[in-house]
Amino acid sequence: MKADLVVRDLDVLLTMDEARGEGPLGPIPNGAVAFRDETVVWLGPSQEAPEASRVVVAKGEVGLPGLVDAHTHAVWAGSRTDEWEARLRGAAYQDALAKGGGIHSTVTATRAAQPETLTELTTARLRHLAEARGTTTVEVKSGYGLDQATEVAMLKAAREAGIRAGVNVMTTFLGAHVVPKEYANRRDAYVTELVQVHLPAIVGLADFVDVFVDEGAFTVDEGRRILTAAKNLGFGLKIHAEQLTYTGAAQMAAELGAVSADHLEQIDEAGIEAMARHGTSAGLLPGAMLSLRLPSPPVAALREAGVSLFVATDLNPGSSTFYDLLTCASLACLTMGLTVEESLLGITSRAATALGRSDVGRLTVGGKADFVALRPAPGEPATPASILQHVGGTRLTSVVRGAAA
Ligand code: NIG
Ligand code: FE
Repeated sequence: MKADLVVRDLDVLLTMDEARGEGPLGPIPNGAVAFRDETVVWLGPSQEAPEASRVVVAKGEVGLPGLVDAHTHAVWAGSRTDEWEARLRGAAYQDALAKGGGIHSTVTATRAAQPETLTELTTARLRHLAEARGTTTVEVKSGYGLDQATEVAMLKAAREAGIRAGVNVMTTFLGAHVVPKEYANRRDAYVTELVQVHLPAIVGLADFVDVFVDEGAFTVDEGRRILTAAKNLGFGLKIHAEQLTYTGAAQMAAELGAVSADHLEQIDEAGIEAMARHGTSAGLLPGAMLSLRLPSPPVAALREAGVSLFVATDLNPGSSTFYDLLTCASLACLTMGLTVEESLLGITSRAATALGRSDVGRLTVGGKADFVALRPAPGEPATPASILQHVGGTRLTSVVRGAAA
């Protein structure tokens, strides 16, 4: 068997395949990986590597699956740099939202943009995530349209941008991000419209439906109504829960079978217990936590309960202007207390699980040819711990991408 490409002599290849039985990261010392037809066709020690048309020698480097960012809001127009600076001077995130800025200002700019502009902006962002940051699978949410035409345009832009940028995209409908201004005094009518008009219109365009349940956004009861309708239409469920205030949303979503509940800074015991019982993954978002100066989610309690943890950027123009998933993995260790193993699994296999994907986020024969190699900071060992410890010192040396889907 001749491969198209072999990457060999990696100091360690982290397959993230826990089933290999050599520890949670599934390491292969002095490892090699072979690709053909955009698929992984072989993995093992370098001395046994098959022949290939192209061979990359990656001595001194760490290999791992292409990174998986399972929570982003990568489609938007406009800029909120002024709001960011105002926050640095002491303004509160919720005040901007309450005064009609914040998310609302991105809604105004996104509604005003042409669909092709949204696609181009998103393509440029996804291309940057893949080429400069090694992220090859991205979940992208709508939620800056809040009217049917713009929400549909956002979901289409996300999918088309994935094709143009060569990134695997999963889409999530977040029409329940906030109540749009034109419905300010008729929020019940907006929820009804979401359920009766928006959700049926995005069947086939979105993989998941998400609701932001919090002060200034939606209530638990509204969230339940929307997610129940989404479940009945066959969508996977996600939720922004327990971020700014405790609401009980994580428990509600877990009981409905949500695949993940994200943020969780304010989650309580009952929420953790429900997530563990229903197999709901926890999305940890250190970029938003740090930007809004929130406390850490209770990682020790989530871990103890057996909840699967993943780490994502939450890339958006307001609360988390973070593009670099590896940096977020380092921050999850430093600010939330994740172990190196939890953090690296959290940006690969466990993030893939939170998207219902088994073909990405781990390196297995037959899986997608999504792969990155990292060179540790000068003088550092090529180990899992070193690549997270030296924030910004670790360099991306190669990215291999199978056909995006
Ligand atoms: O995930 N929490 C709600 N939504 C986004 C914020 C979006 C924004 O500020 O534009 C988040 O943090
Ligand atoms: Fe978010």
